[in-house]
Amino acid sequence: MAIISDSISEARKYLQFDVIGIPTETVYGLAANAFDANLVTRIFEVKERPKFDPLIVHTFAIGEVLKFVKSFPDELMLVAEKFWPGPLTILLPRKEIIPDIVTSGLENVAIRIPDHPLAIELLKSLDFPLAAPSANPFGYVSPTNALHVNDQLGSRIPFILNGGSSKIGVESTIIGYENDVLTIFRLGGISVEDIIEVCGDIRIKTHSSNPLAPGMIDSHYAPGKRMILGDLNTLVQRHHSENPIVICYDKLLNHYPADMQIVLSPNSDVRQAATNLFASLRQADQMADSLILAEPVPDEGLGKAINDRLRRAAF
Ligand code: TXA
Ligand code: MG
Repeated sequence: MAIISDSISEARKYLQFDVIGIPTETVYGLAANAFDANLVTRIFEVKERPKFDPLIVHTFAIGEVLKFVKSFPDELMLVAEKFWPGPLTILLPRKEIIPDIVTSGLENVAIRIPDHPLAIELLKSLDFPLAAPSANPFGYVSPTNALHVNDQLGSRIPFILNGGSSKIGVESTIIGYENDVLTIFRLGGISVEDIIEVCGDIRIKTHSSNPLAPGMIDSHYAPGKRMILGDLNTLVQRHHSENPIVICYDKLLNHYPADMQIVLSPNSDVRQAATNLFASLRQADQMADSLILAEPVPDEGLGKAINDRLRRAAF
């Protein structure tokens, strides 16, 4: 199992020669020196991730980002200044200093400044940025605390920097240009409504038939057990005999055992539901014999990102 600690100096030591788990406000990352192609290759091995799925580069200031990219269009700079540090990833034309393996050979590199004190302290102490995907085996539910990372990847990595539970709970929103049109490629921790406030109307393209756009693949964020998404009363009637575990938005079902239900947000708040989402999916996966039932949450604010994750988990 990995060492779990909040020591920045230990984290720095392991990053000289290996990959480690790091906390962010969205989900935990599996991090390595983004300038070192060999170490970045280790990320793909540990995660069993296909090499054509590019990684996000994490740093601590816009001044640093300018060292890695050829240009930073005004419109995207506006968004960056508004939402960084925070759950937003921006696609920008990369300089040579970013190795091919990080971007899977694509011209753009995905960049993010996380809003987590320990992550920022670590990044400031290094002379390289950190490439990091979510710290889960490819296709599985993302981790929102150090124990989640340890459960699945602890035997493959030496160290996890412990920064508590991730407060946002869903991955960053990904934004960039496609054919000169400003586009959201992944719904995430910054809501569509918030982005529209800064840059006006925006295209949303979170599905692709192109297998080279794996962040958009339909089955993702998936628990091991079968999951069905829909109206819970109908589903529970239909699947009663399978003893399903039920994930509710804000209220328990009346005619079903309370100890077989998980409520995402007792306060009826989509932000609270996002914070609890992935831990709840993991818990349901452990509790269920064979089946998990879930209902969509209100499709507004972070609810859009949650419903996207639930649909892919159930695909
Ligand atoms: O919140 C987050 O973004 C977390 C934390 C750790 O920062 N990271 C994360 O990484 O979710 P990952 O690898 O699980 O998802 C990154 C997504 C992938 O779907 C990948 O396809 C997309 O970003 N991506 C990365 N670089 C890209 C690029 N150059 N062009 C298009 N998509 C890219
Ligand atoms: Mg991921």
